[in-house]
Order: sequence, then C-alpha cells, then structure tokens
Amino acid sequence: MSLTQRQKILFIDDIPAFCEEMVATLQSEQLDAVSMLSPHEAISKIVRGDFDLVITTLVIAEMGGFEIIRRLRGAGCRVPIIMITGFGTDQSAIEAARLGVADYLTKPVEKTELVARVRRVLAEHAPRAPERPKSLARMISGDWQMSAIFDKVKTVAPSDSRVLILGETGSGKQLLAHAIHQQSRRAQEPFVEVNCAAIPANLLESELFGHEEGAFTGASKRRIGRFEAAGKGTIFLDEIGELSFELQSKLLHVLDSGKFTRVGGGNDMISRARLVSATNRDLMQEVEAGRFRADLYYRLNVISIELPPLRERPGDIGILAQHFINQFVTEGQQPPTFTPAAVEALRQYNWPGNVRELQNFAEQLAVLHAGARIEATDLPARILRPPTRSAPAARVSPPAERLPFREARDQFEKDYLLKAIEEANGNMAEGARLAGMDRGQFYRLAKRHGLTPNGEE
Ligand SMILES: Nc1ncnc2c1ncn2[C@@H]1O[C@H](COP(=O)(O)OP(=O)(O)OP(=O)(O)O)[C@@H](O)[C@H]1O
Ligand SMILES: [Mg+2]
Repeated sequence: MSLTQRQKILFIDDIPAFCEEMVATLQSEQLDAVSMLSPHEAISKIVRGDFDLVITTLVIAEMGGFEIIRRLRGAGCRVPIIMITGFGTDQSAIEAARLGVADYLTKPVEKTELVARVRRVLAEHAPRAPERPKSLARMISGDWQMSAIFDKVKTVAPSDSRVLILGETGSGKQLLAHAIHQQSRRAQEPFVEVNCAAIPANLLESELFGHEEGAFTGASKRRIGRFEAAGKGTIFLDEIGELSFELQSKLLHVLDSGKFTRVGGGNDMISRARLVSATNRDLMQEVEAGRFRADLYYRLNVISIELPPLRERPGDIGILAQHFINQFVTEGQQPPTFTPAAVEALRQYNWPGNVRELQNFAEQLAVLHAGARIEATDLPARILRPPTRSAPAARVSPPAERLPFREARDQFEKDYLLKAIEEANGNMAEGARLAGMDRGQFYRLAKRHGLTPNGEE
C-alpha cells in the first residue's frame, strides 16, 4: 500500500451529484476520499485534523471556497487545498495563490488531471517519518540538524579544543556547553559558568581571575576566581560578546600564555581549564565594527557550533513541546497532547524566544489543558496570527493583460515568490511563513521558477 492511499481527502461542494462524481473518480484510483455538502460542518472536521487534503469549489451557496480557506488558515490549519472554479479568472487565480492553495483547477475537471494533481499534492505533503527523538546530556531533539550537532559534539568534546557556540537567545547554548563538558574527559571535574553580561565590568576581572586581600577597596580577603575554580574542568564564558576591550586583552593573554594572575597578586597561576564560550551576537560583525578583538575571536573560535533558531527546526517543535508539557504537568494529572493540526500551527509560528519561549508556553498549556487533547483552535491568537509585516500580496503587480491563463499564473507566482523571498532577506523558511505556505511547497515552487535561496535567478 502506498503512502497516498492512507491520506484522507475531503471534497466540498453543495451539488450532491458533482460530489458523488468526484469522490467516485478518486476512489476508483484507490484514493481515500469522502465529500461534504456543508462548509461549516467540513471546517470543524478539517480543523480537528481529520483530513490530509481538501478539495473545494469556489462557489458554494453557504460559504464560498475562499472564505473556507480564510477560516481554516485563521484557525491555524495548514492542510493543503486544491481549488476548483467554474471559470478561472486572473483575479481568482491571484486570490487562490495569495491564500496559499496548493493547486487550482478549472471546470470541466478532467478526471486524469484531477487524479494527477491530487497525487502530486499528496506526495508533496506526505507526512515525513518522524525523527526519533535523540538526546545528548539534558538536550533532546527530533531534528536532523540537531542530530548533526549532537554528532559534532561527540566528536569534539573529548578533545581540548576551544569551542564557540553561536545562536539566538534561548536556543540552547548553555545546555550545549554543559553537554560538551559532560561528553568530555573532564566530566568529573567542575563545570564553571560565567555570564559576562550579568557581572558589572569593574568586578568581572576579579570574578574571572580572583583577587588578593586588599587588592581594591572592599577586598577584605583573598578570593579565588572562576578560572581557578574550574581547575581541570570546563569554564563556560557566556555572552562573550559583552566583554570589555580591556578584559578581551587580559583573556587573550591567558589563552596565549596559559597563565593568569589574581587581581593585586604577583604570582602567575596556570590555567588548565578548557574554554567554551557562547554569544548571540554576530561576533565577526563585532570584529569588523572594531568592538571585538580579531585575535581573540580566532583563539575562541577553534571549533564553532551554530545552533539554528527553533523556527528552522521543524522536527523539534512537537517533540520539545510534548517533552516540556510532560515535565510541567501537575502530579496526578495526565499531560495534554497535541493534534497534528496544533503541532503544525506551532511550527508556523516563528518563536523569537526560541526553546525558552516554547518551554514557558508549554508550562501554561500543561496547567490550562491538563488531560486534554490540544487542538489548533485552543492556541492563543499571538501564536496563530502573529503580527506580520505588510501582506506581500498587496505589493504584487497584476499579471500582464491578455496572457494565456497559465502564463499569467506563472508570472504571478514568480513575482509573488520573489517578493516574499526578498522581504525575508533570502530566508526561505521565513518567505514561506510570510506567504502562509508550507515550507516544502514554497521551496519547490521557488525552485520551479528558478529562484535560488538568495532570491537570485
Ligand atoms: N534541546 C533541548 N532540550 C531540552 N531543553 C532545552 C533544549 N534546548 C534548550 N532547552 C531549555 O531551554 C531553555 C533555554 O536554553 P539555554 O539557556 O541553554 O539557551 P541559551 O541559548 O543559553 O539562551 P540565552 O541566549 O538567553 O542565554 C533552558 O531552560 C534549557 O534547559
Ligand atoms: Mg545562555
């Protein structure tokens, strides 16, 4: 049995004879299709995640095809949709593309054409086998990019090489630094963390290297610093991009000589700790702007690991959301679970606060929906309809007049995609989000039009 046979198709139209004919056509090709005459009833079933593909006609007395799509998208439902119209006008083709329909057919519907289009859309949206969650120390992930990072950590952790971790806020840099330590031969030694942004600049030197009694006003007794405390373990310098220029020089000296001195103390101390650092800044840009020493940058960046933002890790969102929910659920309560449509809606959101934001959100869900199945419609508006920049379609030029329909549609599609890609600064995932389209679908369409990820042809 092929994958497409298990995917469920819903056909919506208010003419029973047409529904029967279309469903019979699809069923004769071993496709699992049913029909519904009422859009209202259909929407509630689709939103629940009952179908993998929806085919709707444009004109239905109770509610038109465009309105059906708007309501589905408004409820966070991303099911692929094929639209059938009586006669295709440029305007309806534009609107269909704007609403992100997967395909567009005009009547009379050729049976072989319908089946071919349905199979293509189903294949494009076939559920990928979910990645089995992997774990590394306290990190878990179901995303292939993270698997590659876990493998890299396992390779580099046992060495003494310095590691620089890059990633947006909340993407897991601290957890990754700890994982490196745990996978290293130093795992039994201390793991010492210093947040360079959290300690006032004038105290940071003594925090890092310690001080002798009387080194400065208030230094009533000797204090050992974090480098000393780390011993043969790992010292993790978080937010390294915030280090003052003066401390950058001192750190450079430590890295070059392997020695440091306590503030106000004469004796050199040997540093044996392995250094891992992290930043959410673009350090290379800081170097170019003259705010970060290039020589220090190269010494820190022996091995670099870049954590992708959560919105670019679709395999992680469902797994991490469920993982956090299970952690937060009150004792004795059943953890809530997600419908596939709800997971899809979470994937469409852009998670500016990354895993930390998801973690906080999961805590709310665990409390508010204990024991329930969370549907897309249960998710708050800020997740379903985050404020977007101006709608890309508003700035799309209309297709040239009197072109054959297919050419006009191609021209429109290309124009539309190019603008979305430009607006997203070449980021295809963001472009897909702006267009309200599935990422795979967006990418394939862009590729078909020869638009590279940089927005160049
Ligand atoms: N892959 C993961 N598995 C489980 N928990 C995770 C994962 N990634 C991050 N977390 C959790 O998400 C939260 C944020 O992660 P972390 O503090 O490591 O991010 P960060 O990149 O250091 O953030 P910041 O830049 O704000 O310091 C933490 O509570 C962490 O435990
Ligand atoms: Mg951190």
